[in-house]
Amino acid sequence: MAVPSTQSALVQEIYASPLTLKRIPVPPVTPGSALIRVLCTPVLSYAREVYNGTRRYPYTVPIVPGSSCIGRVAALGPDSTSLQPGQLVWVDALVHSRDDPDDMVLRGLVAAGTSGSKKLMDGVWRDGTCAEYTLAPLESVFKLDEERLTELGYADSDLATLTRYLCLGGLRDINLQAGETIVVAPATGAFGGAAVACSVAIGASVVAMGRNEDALAALEATFPRVRTVKITESVEDDVVALKAAAGGRLIDAVFEISPPQAAKSTHIKSCILALKRGGRVSLMGGIQDDYPIPVREVMRKNLTLRGTWMYNREQVLALIKMVETGILKLGKQGGKKDISVFGFAEWEKAFNYASDNAGWATTVLLRP
Ligand SMILES: NC(=O)c1ccc[n+]([C@@H]2O[C@H](COP(=O)([O-])OP(=O)(O)OC[C@H]3O[C@@H](n4cnc5c(N)ncnc54)[C@H](OP(=O)(O)O)[C@@H]3O)[C@@H](O)[C@H]2O)c1
Repeated sequence: MAVPSTQSALVQEIYASPLTLKRIPVPPVTPGSALIRVLCTPVLSYAREVYNGTRRYPYTVPIVPGSSCIGRVAALGPDSTSLQPGQLVWVDALVHSRDDPDDMVLRGLVAAGTSGSKKLMDGVWRDGTCAEYTLAPLESVFKLDEERLTELGYADSDLATLTRYLCLGGLRDINLQAGETIVVAPATGAFGGAAVACSVAIGASVVAMGRNEDALAALEATFPRVRTVKITESVEDDVVALKAAAGGRLIDAVFEISPPQAAKSTHIKSCILALKRGGRVSLMGGIQDDYPIPVREVMRKNLTLRGTWMYNREQVLALIKMVETGILKLGKQGGKKDISVFGFAEWEKAFNYASDNAGWATTVLLRP
């Protein structure tokens, strides 16, 4: 496949300023990397808040925004031994430094707080996937079994929803098992709904907690073994409701995926208080302020609180296996109601649509 020397890409020249669609060079493929032709890339519900500066995400400009993508291998570094040109792949935006994996960056989105992570963002691993071609480290490029996925009825737009299901990282970090009961809170957002889907696929029963009763009812109608609880102002009432929704079983685990605006919500405390002795809590949410944790209960009940930022390679491979074996359904087959695709030139419309229709049932994609 001939690779052009220039390409069309979205670029932000000045931090928090509007994006522009322009022609930029196609990055040369280097040892340790793969050049990927982008097929489609998902838009975060909070992309508008990231790129207009509201979320104050640290990233360097000029930048090509974006996160993960579905694509095809266009060219390979000379040290690649397994990927093939033309192969269908899922490209992870997460890049680990090779000489210190604790330095991480999400290309096109955010540096993770260390000086090493800033160095990656300032330098070679800055640009994301809102371009016709994207350069990725070989280890961030995951082969997909195209034949099998086509047999299962998936289009690339369904496969692009894969990223959201990587909440599997937090679920595996707390070792969620078949037969257990987990509370997912809030369950109605993009990652929360995906956590419900993954928990059910693992074989757990789920108590989905949230504010929006219609969205909760839709989860209960879509997945087996899901009951719901509406968040109220009363921790006491919510603990009773969570235990009742578990139907007499003890609650083994909690998956927390709150956005920053939920900092004052009481649901995390209620979930922790509803846990059985020895229960586990996965904290994956994005609350930026400190919030109250009932530490006495954590101590008395031998609870484990486990934070997870993103996921690891083993967890990505496990997720792909769950999809390719049909255990976990993606896209419309998995209960999504709306997969809306926009061109790069329509980025602003796409960001607004993603924000206005935030939630589990909608996925917004950009396509070159
Ligand atoms: N740890 C990680 O690696 C990782 C990875 C991805 C994302 N995150 C974090 O996870 C957060 C959630 O992501 P998402 O894509 O699922 O967001 P989203 O689609 O915007 O969903 C937000 C969820 O939060 C609920 N919510 C909003 N305001 C609330 C409040 N005041 N009290 C209680 N619930 C509230 C929403 O429910 P309503 O319907 O009631 O509004 C919805 O369920 C992000 O903000 C991000 O910071 C972390």
